[in-house]
Amino acid sequence: MEITAVNALLCPHCGQGFHAPEQGGSSMTCLAGHSFDIARQGYLNLLTGSGTKFVPDSSEMVAARDSFLDAGHYQRLADALAEKVTAHLRRGSEDATLIVDAGTGTGWYLQEVLAATAKAGQSPAAVGMDISKFALRRAARRNPDAVNIVWDLWRELPLGAKLADVVLVIFAPRNASEFARILKPGGTLLIVTPLPQHLGEIAADAGLLGIQDDKEAALVQSLAEDFELVDSTELLLPLELSPTDVAHVAFMGPAGHHAKAEDLAQRLTHLPQKTPATAAFRISAFSPRRSS
Ligand SMILES: C[S@@+](CC[C@H](N)C(=O)[O-])C[C@H]1O[C@@H](n2cnc3c(N)ncnc32)[C@H](O)[C@@H]1O
Ligand SMILES: [Zn+2]
Repeated sequence: MEITAVNALLCPHCGQGFHAPEQGGSSMTCLAGHSFDIARQGYLNLLTGSGTKFVPDSSEMVAARDSFLDAGHYQRLADALAEKVTAHLRRGSEDATLIVDAGTGTGWYLQEVLAATAKAGQSPAAVGMDISKFALRRAARRNPDAVNIVWDLWRELPLGAKLADVVLVIFAPRNASEFARILKPGGTLLIVTPLPQHLGEIAADAGLLGIQDDKEAALVQSLAEDFELVDSTELLLPLELSPTDVAHVAFMGPAGHHAKAEDLAQRLTHLPQKTPATAAFRISAFSPRRSS
């Protein structure tokens, strides 16, 4: 866990900062003495007390997502994001920079982005947040220098104001007012959403929930109070997916909450060795409207 990212954290109970954790310590304490567990795997659980009503992704769903991402199918999306992040950090003049990955999942994209920033000679601190402990176990392994926190993105974020250079939101919930609060005035919010035709070729087989229409107008509208759209990039990735790949896609999405892995595999036995499919994404870059 990197100290500079720890400096961005605020205690959810009292809003004060934290003492630097001891090397290999099992808890972190705020300046007022509130203590939070650091899991053996290295992530920090700030979500104590009443918890949340949200049903987090299961261990199996997270494993499917990780296997699919590790196979490299979405590498070009990670590269495009990394390119945008490094370009943004290059434009800034500050030494201490911070990337927040909201809904970091298994941390795969953040790992790719951090590798690119390191290559560019940049050394941003990073915070990954997710509500799934199963996801964070993996994220903490992938990004040991980042601060990985169990948190509900719909709550006030446990981070100080105007500290983040970049907030990444890759298929995850968008808490516009909180993202605006934690971003520096010149900061950027990068949101990845699927386009309507995303994986259309396998949507029925994989039981993917339909992505009905292009949601960009709705996205811009939903963020309008806090952000303005500065850039929008579409990315189409032609893929060749094995039956295992299709099973992973099926299981890592919302359908994974309802289906059993064996049932899904059974449904996919008719698939050929390679099924062509097109992943279709939009990366939207927003800047905060106000610096207040
Ligand atoms: C579709 S996954 C994307 C994960 C990661 N960004 C990626 O692309 O690999 C959505 C993620 O958002 C997380 N998530 C959903 N609702 C959340 C909430 N209210 N607070 C924090 N994380 C949440 C899920 O646990 C999951 O890891
Ligand atoms: Zn406290």
